[in-house]
Amino acid sequence: MLRFETAGESHGECLVATLAGLPAGIPISLDRVNRELWRRQQGYGRGGRMKIETDRAEIVAGVRHSHTIGAPVAILIRNKDWQNWTEALPVEDAEGAEDKRKPVTRPRPGHADLAGALKYNFHDARYILERASARETTARVAAGAVAKALLAEFGIQVLSHTVAVGAVTLDRPVEWEELAALSLKDEVLLGSVDPATELRMKEVVDAAYRTGDTVGGVFEVVAHGVPAGLGSHATWDSRLDGRLAQAIVSIQAVKGVEVGCAADGAASFGSKVQDTIHYDRERSRFTRGANRAGGLEGGITNGQDLVVRGLLKPISTLRRPLESVDLATREPALAAYERSDVCVVPAAGVVGEAMVALVLAQAFLEKFGGDSLGETRRNYAGYLQQVKDF
Ligand SMILES: Cc1cc2nc3c(=O)[nH]c(=O)nc-3n(C[C@H](O)[C@H](O)[C@H](O)COP(=O)(O)O)c2cc1C
Repeated sequence: MLRFETAGESHGECLVATLAGLPAGIPISLDRVNRELWRRQQGYGRGGRMKIETDRAEIVAGVRHSHTIGAPVAILIRNKDWQNWTEALPVEDAEGAEDKRKPVTRPRPGHADLAGALKYNFHDARYILERASARETTARVAAGAVAKALLAEFGIQVLSHTVAVGAVTLDRPVEWEELAALSLKDEVLLGSVDPATELRMKEVVDAAYRTGDTVGGVFEVVAHGVPAGLGSHATWDSRLDGRLAQAIVSIQAVKGVEVGCAADGAASFGSKVQDTIHYDRERSRFTRGANRAGGLEGGITNGQDLVVRGLLKPISTLRRPLESVDLATREPALAAYERSDVCVVPAAGVVGEAMVALVLAQAFLEKFGGDSLGETRRNYAGYLQQVKDF
């Protein structure tokens, strides 16, 4: 059973990701992990924080000589900004520390600030926002890079692109090769495969900048090379569509998820939505008329590309703050403002890739198991043979 956890606060010493349950022998490249971290930091519309941080992973457990050893993997990413917060957020209390706090008493609408302060009984929302912050997704992306390394051994790749920024939407299907090319770019604007659409998306972000506003959008994650048979129809919690939906909506600011063409499908007739089934006798394999289901039927992968989307609300922190109430005085006050992103759709797509890779890696290891990569390979090869002989 593959498990992963993250720890760490936005302005703490570091972020940490742990993964337990990986087979021994998965090749791990620090460069690849760091490239994923770099991709998460890109995109037009990011705030000043991303200029401070250049995220670098330190693998401190579970990998030796560039391969997993079957022990839990622990990855640490240091926060450069920590040096500005050592007095405001010390681990150990000391005399005078009270005066050096940077309290947040004017909770920001759309954030965990107020709900978290009530729940944990803090009259300063600082400790809530420190952990609720999407800085945490750095650790998810590091863990996702390890999951991607496992999947890559079996020919499975996971990538993303931006479908919409605000009301500007890409209006054509995307080929896998376009996503592959996009992921190799060393300059990221808004993560669209279509340059003309991307420029229109940039205009939306520029308008948000001009007016002190923020903007959301939609990212799409595609997993390529996925075998039929991951997940199960048998129980509610083994359905892979449900597990992916939870993983995607758990990303900060994601408020909706779409599997395949869910929204269009809901507005169409059944005859236009289901993917017809055909058989290619020459290649002895089943084929499908389309992939509107996003590679999932009955909670089981069907061998087509897996396609899920995340719908992001606009960033909650506004330069032109919204109405709030001061937690101390209960008087009306404008919400707190801290340096903030204006648009994060491409970055959220990279986080979405990590979450999809982690869920797929879990489902893959549930089905094929193995304590060493060789054992997993044998199990997988046996299953592929079964499908071929079907
Ligand atoms: C990659 C990424 C970066 C984000 N950066 C910011 C930010 O700079 N400022 C902000 O207010 N919200 C930011 N958010 C969104 C907040 O984390 C999110 O709105 C907040 O957690 C509340 O939303 P929730 O209810 O979905 O958790 C970011 C989200 C993602 C995915």
